[in-house]
Amino acid sequence: MKKVFMFNSSYNEDSRIYRLTDYITNVLKEDLHVNYRTPFNTSMFPHNGNTEYYETGVHLQDKQDDINLVKKEILDSDLIVLATPVYCHMASSAMVVFIERVFSNWVHLFRILGKPYIIITTSESNGNNKAYSYIDNNLEIAGGMSLGHFPFKNIDTDEKERLEDLIKVAKDVIDQGSSISITDKQESAFQTYKYVLGQYDFENYERKYWESNKLMQADSLNDFWELYKNRGKIFND
Ligand SMILES: Cc1cc2nc3c(=O)[nH]c(=O)nc-3n(C[C@H](O)[C@H](O)[C@H](O)COP(=O)(O)O)c2cc1C
Repeated sequence: MKKVFMFNSSYNEDSRIYRLTDYITNVLKEDLHVNYRTPFNTSMFPHNGNTEYYETGVHLQDKQDDINLVKKEILDSDLIVLATPVYCHMASSAMVVFIERVFSNWVHLFRILGKPYIIITTSESNGNNKAYSYIDNNLEIAGGMSLGHFPFKNIDTDEKERLEDLIKVAKDVIDQGSSISITDKQESAFQTYKYVLGQYDFENYERKYWESNKLMQADSLNDFWELYKNRGKIFND
């Protein structure tokens, strides 16, 4: 059965964003397995600032909470859905913790290369694009493929229609897949990391990952994708 990973970063269970993500989950659950994560069912400590894992690949904090499990669920999923309320023109603090803990080294590794994602934001009136851009930038640099931003504002009168649009986009990509094209931003990040990581010691975790997964040998991310997109698992740990 195909799998969806969804994270709703609100602490307000009595909110529109829960109404939306509960609805989406219930519809998708008819045909798919949904890992529906929230701050209430997932322990996730704020990042402790330790940076050794960039060199070793192991962040000790990941063993103290649910982040290792969350990472596995994301890698194992066919679609990622991230939902946040807009707070002070930004994603909520729980979404920031989630991004820092999960994506701070994945952005160097193209860890979710080719994986589609959807971002949902809710606001009273404004700030949706800023919250979206923050999340989108991290997922794009980590290799993800955007299926779009679904912003919901309290003044909207077409909530039902846009929810149905979102569900259609999600179901279509699960049923039919999607042709993936590497974005300019991803290609540019690839060239930067290839140069920077190429200077690192051979024992450095990120360099080893790039060498052993043949990223370092590719001239471009597009070449890499074309060569390895059909490999069951694109990356080994
Ligand atoms: C701490 C905080 C900051 C907020 N900042 C903004 C903001 O920058 N822009 C805005 O339009 N709404 C802002 N809001 C309103 C929320 O986005 C609002 O509650 C929105 O309806 C989110 O909906 P939901 O929590 O019901 O999903 C803020 C609310 C809180 C609690």
